[in-house]
Formats: sequence, C-alpha cells, structure tokens
Amino acid sequence: MSEPPSDVAISFLDPPTEEQWSQIKGVVDQVEWALSHWNYFLILSRLPYAKAVVAVDDQGKCVGSIVFIQPPSPHVSYVGLYNVYENYRGHGIGQRMWKLMKEHTDESRVLAIDSGDMTDKYRAVDFPVPGPTWQKMSGPVAQLNAALQQAIQGQDGRFKIVDPNTVMEEVIKFENKIMHIENPEFVQQFFRVANGKAIVAEDGSVIALGATLPALLQEKQIRIGPLFAENFNCMLVLLNALMRDVKQPEFLIMAPSETEKGRMLIDFLTEKAHSNLESPLIRSYDRPYECPTEWNKVFAMPYHIASPMW
Ligand SMILES: CC(C)(COP(=O)(O)OP(=O)(O)OC[C@H]1O[C@@H](n2cnc3c(N)ncnc32)[C@H](O)[C@@H]1OP(=O)(O)O)[C@@H](O)C(=O)NCCC(=O)NCCS
Repeated sequence: MSEPPSDVAISFLDPPTEEQWSQIKGVVDQVEWALSHWNYFLILSRLPYAKAVVAVDDQGKCVGSIVFIQPPSPHVSYVGLYNVYENYRGHGIGQRMWKLMKEHTDESRVLAIDSGDMTDKYRAVDFPVPGPTWQKMSGPVAQLNAALQQAIQGQDGRFKIVDPNTVMEEVIKFENKIMHIENPEFVQQFFRVANGKAIVAEDGSVIALGATLPALLQEKQIRIGPLFAENFNCMLVLLNALMRDVKQPEFLIMAPSETEKGRMLIDFLTEKAHSNLESPLIRSYDRPYECPTEWNKVFAMPYHIASPMW
C-alpha cells in the first residue's frame, strides 16, 4: 500500500457547479475507469437534482467523488461515479465520502447502484437486493454494420426514420409506454446530448427509439443505448440507422441478459456480428424495488434510474 495521503477534506455539493463537475470528470479521467453509459450521461448532462460528495487534498486537487441522483420521482437515490485516485485508495477516503453521501440521503428513498467487481462488497453492506443484470458487449463497428446490412436487406427504405427532436411529443408518448414514468424534461434533455433516431409509423406514432453516446475517455468507442422497439426487425432497422454515421471503430452495448428481447440481441451480436461478451453490469438496491418497465420492447439498456424514469 502507498504512503498515507496528506490531509483530505470531504465535502457535500448540492448541486455541483460547472467547475466542480469538471473536477469530478478529472477524477474519472485519472482513474481511467470504464464507466457505464449512464455515468457518462451524468457528467454530460449535469442534472439539476444531482448531488455529489468530493474529496479534496491539501493542494486543492479533487481526488475522489461520489455522485448521487435524487430525482423528484421516482423516489430513488442512484449512486454513481464512486472513485478515488489510485494512490489515495485504502486509507478510508471512500468510506468517509460514502458516510457523508448517506447523511444527505433521505432514508425513504430507495438506493440503487450499478456495479461490476464491487457488487459482492455492495451487496454485503448497503445493497442486498438484486436488480437486473446487463450483458456488456463490444465489437468492431464494421462487423456490426455488415451483419445489420445482411439482416435487414434493404428493408430500411420502407421505414420513416427521423431525428427524435423533430417528433418529441410522440417520442415522449412511446417512451412513457415503455418506462411508465412521465418525465418529458428528461427525455428532451437526453436527446439534446445523445445522437438519437426514431422510427415513425404511418399514423405518426413512434415505434422504435434509440441513441448513441460518445465515450469520454475511449475515443475509439461508441456506446449504444437505449434501444426500444415494437419488434426485433424494427430494432435492427433502427440500429442500422444509428450506426450509419458512426466514426468510432468499436461499439459497446448493454443488453438485459434475463429477458427474451435482451437475449435476442445478445444472440444476434454474438452469432452475426462476432461481438465479445464482457463482464456484466449488475444493479443492486437497498430494499425490494419493482420497475414497471415493458421489457418486451427493451433491447438495450434503457434510461437510467437516475433519469428519473425507473
Ligand atoms: C471503491 C473505491 C472508491 C473505494 O475507495 P477507498 O478510498 O479505497 O476506500 P476505503 O479505503 O474507505 O475502503 C476500505 C475498504 O472498504 C471497501 N469499500 C469502500 N466503500 C465501500 C462501500 N460503499 N461498500 C462496500 N465496501 C466498500 C473498499 O473496497 C476497501 O476494501 P478492501 O480493503 O477489500 O480493498 C476505490 O477503491 C476506487 O476508486 N476503485 C476503483 C473504482 C471503482 O471500482 N468504483 C466503484 C465502481 S461501482
């Protein structure tokens, strides 16, 4: 273990300022940690109901962070971006930040977190209840595009594919049908930051909706999600449209591994696009929590609990 770090002060930010968000991003950059899509989105979107705890050393450098999102509805507190600089770890800084985070969390909120290696530790302490598991998959964009072209065989010409921002009212309706939580502000905010596509039926309603987000650290990677669609074929056409203008050589996607539609996408990516299965991302809660999601329309990770849509 390294030398104990010099004095580190822990403070609560509600909400972080622009400058403080940059410092939090600085910790993430240093840690070079493979963040989930949603943690990227948290940094990019600066949600007004985001709170944070940071650790700052005696030189004024931010060396640790936890962001926790407490939306007006649903009544959850989503914990993300829990990081400490590598050479400051193992000296209790994480635990001190965690304690302050909990002091600023109303106990009536359900706590939620997504994790990989840390899951067992979280489950043993504050998050005993399992939530959905997401299968992380990656692969070359060129291979995915070839597989999509072959699978849809020119069918995309039959579909009306539009920018979600131009049909926002219908996008919000479709999204609400899937997530069962009304939060139009979040959907609008999300599609301002992400590159989205929607498929519109003849009656003007949206039947598929998806997005890609650039990764902050891995410039070579594009992150795909959410992917919502009425059926598998529509999802393929949507994904093809989303991937058309992608410049990055690699993609990352997270599909629900315990649902039929998630498995369909995972099988397609494995068999047709030679994608790699990576370590899963696992959600945990501090107490039982039911998400009223229409899983039969969710192919890849939907909006985040922090959105607030879950
Ligand atoms: C997780 C992390 C933030 C902990 O910070 P830290 O300053 O090293 O934490 P402490 O010194 O207070 O931790 C003491 C022990 O408690 C564990 N711990 C810390 N916070 C914890 C929590 N909320 N729940 C359960 N265990 C926790 C630590 O992992 C450590 O365990 P170890 O002795 O087996 O290594 C830090 O290790 C880190 O940045 N890791 C890489 C990024 C990461 O994996 N973040 C979590 C993603 S979900």
